[in-house]
Formats: sequence, structure tokens, C-alpha cells
Amino acid sequence: MTDIRYQTSDASTEPLLEVRDVHLSFKGVRAIDGISFQVFPRQLFAIIGPNGAGKTSIFNSINQVYRPQRGDILWKGRSILGLKPNKTAEMGIARTFQNIALFPHMTVIDNILTGRHVRMKRGWVAGFLWVGPAKREEMANRAKVEDIIDFLEIEQWRKYPVGLLPYGIQKRVELGRALAMDPELLMLDEPVAGMNLEETEDMARFVLDIQDELGIAMILVEHDMGLVMDIADRVMVVDFGKKIAEGEPGEVQRNPDVVRAYLGEEFQSAELQEAAAEASEASERVTTAADSV
Ligand SMILES: Nc1ncnc2c1ncn2[C@@H]1O[C@H](COP(=O)(O)OP(=O)(O)OP(=O)(O)O)[C@@H](O)[C@H]1O
Ligand SMILES: [Mg+2]
Repeated sequence: MTDIRYQTSDASTEPLLEVRDVHLSFKGVRAIDGISFQVFPRQLFAIIGPNGAGKTSIFNSINQVYRPQRGDILWKGRSILGLKPNKTAEMGIARTFQNIALFPHMTVIDNILTGRHVRMKRGWVAGFLWVGPAKREEMANRAKVEDIIDFLEIEQWRKYPVGLLPYGIQKRVELGRALAMDPELLMLDEPVAGMNLEETEDMARFVLDIQDELGIAMILVEHDMGLVMDIADRVMVVDFGKKIAEGEPGEVQRNPDVVRAYLGEEFQSAELQEAAAEASEASERVTTAADSV
């Protein structure tokens, strides 16, 4: 089911984002140790790796919450190192967080509207005051928020305080707030963590719709390997801040370094499993032979 339409090796297509040899340390802890990759328009690029591998740090470096000590990060060919995080959001890089970061007492509509304010020309204070041209802009924003609410199928909760909603719906609201920023690149940090199967399937469907219908490129960090292998166009595997593999999902699953470091038996290819079974039988035969000597 992997769709490689956006899997572009076509030299004529410029990457949207390019991460070049980025290094980031915290008092001796190497969170990112020389990572490079590119994300192309409309691509669904996944980053996987064990806990503490540096995945969230990569997101925080891209939107300039963290400042890498070495390397460069280019957005449409221009370095964005040193910009403020709100500037990267204005340029079209949005994200959701590993832990929900919403305003629990505010309604769904108002939470999503906060994402919209990144785009406001007249300032959100004027928008709330409801005066002059700001009023028109605010009305357009509210219409956009309603579109997002329809798209994410959360109409029935639109006026509820977010804190009262089920976890899966809160995650969807967070996604809505990121979409309200009109991003060209959306970074999703473990969007299905803690979700049940049904919520996970819903989220997967929305991620695919965002790619297909809205044409937004995404970087997906996720521990749910089934989801990643099903929906990503390209997968990068990180371990201890380093890239250990990158390729199409099938390719990555077959990579012996990845299998060893991370994926485990569940995702080993049939051939690898066979080879492993043969090797273990052979070693048993040797042991038995040795015992009988
Ligand atoms: N602000 C920080 N200060 C100090 N150390 C940090 C900071 N942020 C991350 N680290 C460290 O950097 C390393 C990578 O952390 P990061 O959160 O990027 O990993 P991760 O791959 O997102 O892990 P997880 O799957 O658990 O979310 C870890 O050793 C972490 O403790
Ligand atoms: Mg993380």
C-alpha cells in the first residue's frame, strides 16, 4: 500500500526542507550526532528510533527551539538557522507535540483559532476586539477554523472545552491547530501514542487525507511501526543521535542493521526470518553433533 508518488529522486524537484549534518549536544549528551536528510513537497517522511534517539530534538532543531551547534537547516534552499520559532511557523513549518499542549479550558474552536493567529496580519488582539479590517480577517479565520473542524470530523465537539474531551479527540484538535497555521510542512510527534486501535486508524486516515487532499508534506515521528510502514513514503531510522538507515519502508525493514538495532522479529522480512531460522537450526545441529562426540 506504500505510495511512492512523492518519493522523489527527480533532480528537478527541490527539497522543501534540508537538514545538513546537524549536531546538537546538551552538556555532553549528543542528542543529534551529524544527521542529514531531505523532505520533498507532499512527502510523508517518517523518523523512527528507540526512546532518547533524538527524534524530538530533530523537530526542535528544525523549528529553531533548539540551536544546533553544527550543521545547517535549509527551508526552500535558504538557511533558517537563528530564526525565531514563530518565524519558522510563519514560513510554513507547523508541529504537534508529543504531550498534548492545548488550552484545556478553551473550546475546540478557540484552540484551533490560536493556530490561525500565526497567520493574522493585524494581530490577534485587534482580532479579538472585533474592529475594522481586523473584523473581516477574524471572520475569514473563523470560517477557516470551521473548515478544519469539518475536515477532522469534530463538529460535535466544537463548543466543548478541550479538557473534557476524550484523548483521541484532543489529539485531533491539536492537529487542527497545526493545520490552522496553513503549513507546507507539518511535523507530527507521536500522533497516535496512547491511542486505541480505532483512534489510531482514524488518525492514520487523517494523516493520509492531509497528504492527498491538502498536499502538505509531513515528518512523522512514531513508535507504532505498523502505522509507519503502512503510510510513510520514506523512513529514516535514528539511534543514539545518528542515522542508521534511510529508504522506502520495505527497504528499511530488510536492512539488517535496523533489524538488529530496533525493529525486532515482527518486521523482519520473510527471507530474513527464514535465514535466521536456518542459522539457528544449523547451530543446533552443530551443538547436537558436538554433544554426541
Ligand atoms: N532540553 C534538553 N536538555 C537536556 N537534554 C535533552 C534535552 N532535550 C533532549 N535531551 C536529551 O537528548 C536525547 C534525545 O532526546 P529526544 O527527546 O530528542 O529523544 P526522542 O527520540 O524524542 O525520544 P522519545 O522516543 O522518548 O520521545 C536524550 O538523551 C535526552 O535526554
Ligand atoms: Mg520524543
